[in-house]
Amino acid sequence: MQYIPLIPLSELPENTHKSVKNGNRTIALFHYEGIISALDHACIHKGGDLGEGFIQILDDREHYVACPWHGWQYNLKTGKAPHDYKDRQALYDVILQNGMICVSEKPVTDAYRAEHESDPLADLRSLNYQTTATSLNVLGISTTNMNSDLPRPSTSETALQNALDIAVSKFGAQTKMIKLRELNFRHCEGYYSRHEKACTWPCSISEMDANDGMNEIYRSIVLWADAVILATPIRWGNASSLYYKMAERLNTVQNQITINDKVLIKNKVVSFIITGGQDNVQGVAGQLNSFFADLGFTFPPFNYLGWSRGWIAEDMENNYTRFFKNRYVKRSVIDLVTNTVKLVQQIKQMDVSHLQAPKPKISEAGSLSE
Ligand code: FES
Repeated sequence: MQYIPLIPLSELPENTHKSVKNGNRTIALFHYEGIISALDHACIHKGGDLGEGFIQILDDREHYVACPWHGWQYNLKTGKAPHDYKDRQALYDVILQNGMICVSEKPVTDAYRAEHESDPLADLRSLNYQTTATSLNVLGISTTNMNSDLPRPSTSETALQNALDIAVSKFGAQTKMIKLRELNFRHCEGYYSRHEKACTWPCSISEMDANDGMNEIYRSIVLWADAVILATPIRWGNASSLYYKMAERLNTVQNQITINDKVLIKNKVVSFIITGGQDNVQGVAGQLNSFFADLGFTFPPFNYLGWSRGWIAEDMENNYTRFFKNRYVKRSVIDLVTNTVKLVQQIKQMDVSHLQAPKPKISEAGSLSE
């Protein structure tokens, strides 16, 4: 077997690891428990650099490297994934010659990515759209938070339910209501900051946990909805914290434009219901509009219903009653739904094959030297 000298042993002290480039190959070297081992540096998941990974000792008392992107683990001595997983990373043989760490020219064990019998994210992966030329699927997303055991009246959520009811009774729509507080979903864990390709579609958190609640949002927004009506209370002049938690996880949708020049949202319309005892309806609308514009949504004219009783309206026990007695509110819910549905019906006929996103793309990013 041919061996290639990589680096002097002195450059890899005990309890360290790093990736070393040799020609067009990069090898991750590890020096733990007095043993030097070598794995292919590119994680078999999405290519994270194992030379920058984290060393962990698992239940079997063995040392593993956890990929810095999403945490896939590989045994340092065998390249195998832990537990019963069949995946493994390519492993090289290592010898020391004249103080140099040398690795075999070829792996002694090839990388292997196990096929899983069923892929719970197959519909998302293959973008199995459920919208049709004639569908009218209206998705309501309520972002208000409350204790389900102690429910309270919510102006935004009740108005949203009214809007969905109108979409059914007036336009024959199919509707679906998602209450964010009922979904158990993880925060965005910021893998994009590691590397742009670490933010994947479907979301890497969804891949780690097919039961993550955001999967219902991805399916509903991307695959099912023709129109989205999102309702939020005003909290300290902003949308609800649950809204922002969801928006951060929608990075995966927006990043497909940045990374792969791929627009997932086409011919979809969005409108908003923004209500609060405090003010700043327009500020919240501005934030919502700018985010959903970046996803690729289209807006009907006058695409939000706003309600605020102002800075000094602290008699919150009267808020709900006043809201629903108000003639403006009653009319505006109908107007909002009508504008939304009419636009859906129009843009469904549009050819969007030419659609371009005037957004920064990774292929246009400057190099470090620029
Ligand atoms: S790239 Fe390594 S775990 Fe995803």
